[in-house]
Amino acid sequence: MGRIIAIANQKGGVGKTTTAVNLAASLAAAEQPTLLIDIDPQANATSGLGIGAKKLEKTVYEVIVDRMSPHEAIIRTELGDLDLIPSHINLVGAEIEMIDVPGREKVLYNALAEIRTCYDYVIIDCPPSLGLLTLNALTASDAVLIPVQCEYYALEGLGQLLNTISIVKKHLNPLLDIEGVLLTMFDRRLNLSNQVSDEVRRYFGDKVFTAMIARNVRLSEAPSHGKPVLLYDALSVGTQNYMELAKEILARHSEGLGKSSEEEKGRRDVVVHEDGAENKEENSLNSQAGSPAEQSENSGNGHTPLNEIRRGEG
Ligand SMILES: Nc1ncnc2c1ncn2[C@@H]1O[C@H](COP(=O)(O)OP(=O)(O)O)[C@@H](O)[C@H]1O
Ligand SMILES: [Mg+2]
Repeated sequence: MGRIIAIANQKGGVGKTTTAVNLAASLAAAEQPTLLIDIDPQANATSGLGIGAKKLEKTVYEVIVDRMSPHEAIIRTELGDLDLIPSHINLVGAEIEMIDVPGREKVLYNALAEIRTCYDYVIIDCPPSLGLLTLNALTASDAVLIPVQCEYYALEGLGQLLNTISIVKKHLNPLLDIEGVLLTMFDRRLNLSNQVSDEVRRYFGDKVFTAMIARNVRLSEAPSHGKPVLLYDALSVGTQNYMELAKEILARHSEGLGKSSEEEKGRRDVVVHEDGAENKEENSLNSQAGSPAEQSENSGNGHTPLNEIRRGEG
């Protein structure tokens, strides 16, 4: 049964697509049959693998909106073990088009039931929002990988993302885990990068990957050549960093995660629900997350998860 990992952060430009494409390629290079699903209407992961989205007739849009079988949308890539379900700009309208569809948060979950047995890993590249598409990804996934850019305001908005994850766990996908937090565009010469790295590690502890993605120009050049970085420049730092990330993920899962699931669950709940009063450095995260009390107030009063998340955004 393939492990499904959503790459999510509602901020744009933090390295979601770069991570989705290059993690998927690195897993495939490690001989793990992998499927990359692009659910961002911008279709950057699709074009980053050299697929021109404009002429495609069978994309994730048809899978989500028209309930087409995902098998029909799969495209093979240059890497033998990597397949892609491409995106299309049409997907912009999906949220409105599906407004009356019952169970619209679960469409991708249902679609993936059909194909997850064909792969060891399924990686989903999310759009920069916490709308219906990201909600579908979180509902369909075993875990979420959160890229955090080593920049000013790196932690801004993470509280909102954790709140969304906790709402999805409560209503739609109780087993959703945090795969890990990935530091991206790291530059060890900059104090700022080191400060962000320290703060993220203080807050997320061992959920932060040991692997970090350095700022590397090869990573930003590769998409314009329609290739993952390992096919564009196999010896680059970017290739090395994403291979290290893939190895770390593979090692965790071959060890059966090392911890009992109860232990894991307890620790996760602490991270998601922790009260700002207990943890000084968390103010920037908790400012938008809503307190645990507010979160439980929201339960069982007939709101859909999407409404609940939207109210949090206001
Ligand atoms: N480690 C990195 N080093 C240099 N450039 C990067 C790196 N990661 C991402 N980029 C560049 O930063 C921009 C935003 O990255 P992207 O992966 O598209 O973010 P997102 O999907 O979160 O919007 C892109 O131009 C990408 O090529
Ligand atoms: Mg993107």
